[in-house]
Amino acid sequence: MAIRNLRYEGDEILKKRAREIEVIDDKIKELAQDMMDTMHKWDGLGLAAPQVGILKRIIVIDLYEEGTQFTLINPVIINEKGFQEVEEGCLSFPNKFGKVERPKEIIVEALNLDGKKVKIKAKDLLAQALSHEIDHLNGIVFTEKIKPGTLEVVSDEDIRKAKEGKK
Ligand code: NI
Repeated sequence: MAIRNLRYEGDEILKKRAREIEVIDDKIKELAQDMMDTMHKWDGLGLAAPQVGILKRIIVIDLYEEGTQFTLINPVIINEKGFQEVEEGCLSFPNKFGKVERPKEIIVEALNLDGKKVKIKAKDLLAQALSHEIDHLNGIVFTEKIKPGTLEVVSDEDIRKAKEGKK
């Protein structure tokens, strides 16, 4: 287990398209585990490989409820339905929050770590998380989608206080 360094706002890697994974080898499995550990360390609901500096199409998600932990390789959105306006944040933008529009329902196809094809039908928060993380693989960050007037910028001081409050 290893916690990887996160990439933050202003890092060019966050704007690049990640490449398909052709072979799920031990290195990819290690990356997946590290991403899961890194996401958990920072209490994230999702993380995409570019956020730890790797331009490969792999995402992890955990909504901290049974059956909501996923590691997805080469995820593809095959259907979207409806819209939801939701409050959003991102581990790469720890100071920023805002309202964005996400699909209400989504169907994603991907490979799991065993190389098996999986299909996920998601709605609400899980649809939001999948949409957000797959955006990362295409070099799209949520700040580009924030509705005018809803951006909230939190000071480093407030973030520090919040973290101390949790200890
Ligand atoms: Ni993000």
